[in-house]
Amino acid sequence: MKPFVCFNKVSHQYQSNTTHKVQALTDINFHINKHEFVAVVGPSGCGKSTLLKLITGLMSPSEGSVEIFGKTMHEPRNEVGIVFQKPTLLPWLSVLDNVTFPLKHQHGKVASEAKQYAMTLLKLVGLEQFAHQRPAQLSGGMQQRVGIARALILKPEILIMDEPFSALDALSREIMGFELLRIWEEEPKTVLFITHSINEAVLLADKVLVMSPRPGTVVEELPIDLPRPRNNTTLKHEKFAYYADILRDHIFQKHAALNE
Ligand SMILES: Nc1ncnc2c1ncn2[C@@H]1O[C@H](COP(=O)(O)OP(=O)(O)OP(=O)(O)O)[C@@H](O)[C@H]1O
Ligand SMILES: [Mg+2]
Repeated sequence: MKPFVCFNKVSHQYQSNTTHKVQALTDINFHINKHEFVAVVGPSGCGKSTLLKLITGLMSPSEGSVEIFGKTMHEPRNEVGIVFQKPTLLPWLSVLDNVTFPLKHQHGKVASEAKQYAMTLLKLVGLEQFAHQRPAQLSGGMQQRVGIARALILKPEILIMDEPFSALDALSREIMGFELLRIWEEEPKTVLFITHSINEAVLLADKVLVMSPRPGTVVEELPIDLPRPRNNTTLKHEKFAYYADILRDHIFQKHAALNE
C-alpha cells in the first residue's frame, strides 16, 4: 500500500529579513500510512508547526518534497483538515454555523444535506444539544470539539492537529484524548497529532516521531504496540512507562547535547 503522506528530504528555511535566515527543519524523512495515528513530539521551536504548515500546503519546503496520495503539495486541499491549538470559533455564529462555515466560505451557501451532516458531526463529538448556542456558552473542551467537527465537515482524509488540547486543564485534556480516539475509531482518518506531552503521544498514537531541537529533524520513529481500544487501563499497561521512558531519553539527551 502506498503511503498517504510522504516527507522526502524536506528542509525549510525562513527568511525573516534580507540578512537573517532561520533554518527551521533539516532533512526530514518519514511516511504515514492510511488511517495511521502519528504523534510528533519535540522541544519548543524545533519546527513542529512548520512541519504542519508544509503538510497542509500553506507553505512549500525550501528543499525536498511533501507528497499526499503520491502528489506533491503546492496549495491547501480539502483532503487535509486542521485543528488548531485554539478553536478560533466565530463568536457571532451558532455552533452549527461555525461547523458549516468552511462550506459557506467555499461555496457561498450551505445546502440542507450539509446542515444535516454537520448535525451528525455534532452528535459524533457529543454536542448535538448545543447546535444553536453561541461558542461563548460552551466550555474550552466543548469549543475544541466544535473545532474538530468543523475540521471534519469537508470530509478530509487526513486530520492535522497542532497541540489541540494544550489550552485545556489536565483532566479535560485526558478526557478529550479519549474522545478523540472514540471519534477516530467511528470515523477513521489518517492523523498527524503534534503535542508537547509524551504521555499523550504514547496514549494516542500508533507511531511517535521524535524531533531534535532546531533545526528540527526526526531522530526517532517509535512504533507504539499497545492494544486498542485505548482507555484508562492503557495508562497502567506495563509497556506504557517503557515507551514514555524511551521518548523522554531521546528528548533529554538531545537537549543535554545542545547545552554541552
Ligand atoms: N514566519 C516565520 N519567520 C521566521 N522564522 C520563523 C517563522 N515561523 C517560525 N519561525 C522559526 O522557525 C523555528 C521553528 O518554529 P515552529 O513554530 O515551527 O516551532 P514549534 O516546534 O512549533 O514550536 P512550539 O513548540 O513552541 O510551538 C523557530 O525558531 C521559529 O522562530
Ligand atoms: Mg508550534
